Amino acid sequence: MSAVIITGVPGVGKSTVIEAAQKAKGYKVVVFGTEMLNVALAAGLVKDRDAMRRLDPAVQRDIQEKAAHSIAAMGDVIVDTHCTIKTPKGFLPGIPAWVAQALKPKQFILVEANPDEIVRRRNNDATRTRDPDSAEDIARHQEMNRAAAMTVATLTGATVAIIHNRDGAVEATRDQVIRILG
Ligand code: AP5
Repeated sequence: MSAVIITGVPGVGKSTVIEAAQKAKGYKVVVFGTEMLNVALAAGLVKDRDAMRRLDPAVQRDIQEKAAHSIAAMGDVIVDTHCTIKTPKGFLPGIPAWVAQALKPKQFILVEANPDEIVRRRNNDATRTRDPDSAEDIARHQEMNRAAAMTVATLTGATVAIIHNRDGAVEATRDQVIRILG
């Protein structure tokens, strides 16, 4: 099985864009964070998805591996996930070697946006406990994601596309995703 991986820092709008592409094309999409949340809720480790990135990294790796194996059994899917997770102990790789081996990604799509716009999108999202990062923090996180994506791609032979989700332009970003996926 080989997966398409779509990533972006929290608040960049990746889930909004993926949902729009799914609506237009009927893609099969799996949200890695939801698979992890199901494992973490069943184990009584957290109450919501924003608490997961604050768990001990060893616990996060364990949940991550379980989620990767259940996603690998789903066949060809688009995986909505993260190249890196910003934890209190530093950046945790979202796709370490064992996750890459399970998912065998052939395509990465990194959704990026202007860091100031991401700050505003996070502040406007009252449904979540978003991290209060500065624009500089977000710019660094986007750089780390590029490095992580290219590293995993070097191991799996995947291609890495970077697209920009401009303010008020979800449809244009959706169309970029559809073009890349052919
Ligand atoms: P996840 O489920 O991926 O949640 P997230 O990181 O918060 O991402 P979201 O999907 O909520 O945000 P988004 O960037 O897609 O933005 P949205 O579309 O909502 O991950 C949850 C947790 O799971 C992680 O923290 C981590 O703990 C764990 N996890 C996941 N993968 C993992 C892995 N591989 N390894 C380890 N742990 C993992 O949009 C945000 C707002 O912006 C919305 O209000 C939207 O309307 C608005 N917006 C979007 N686009 C635009 C636009 N173009 N113009 C104006 N507004 C826009």
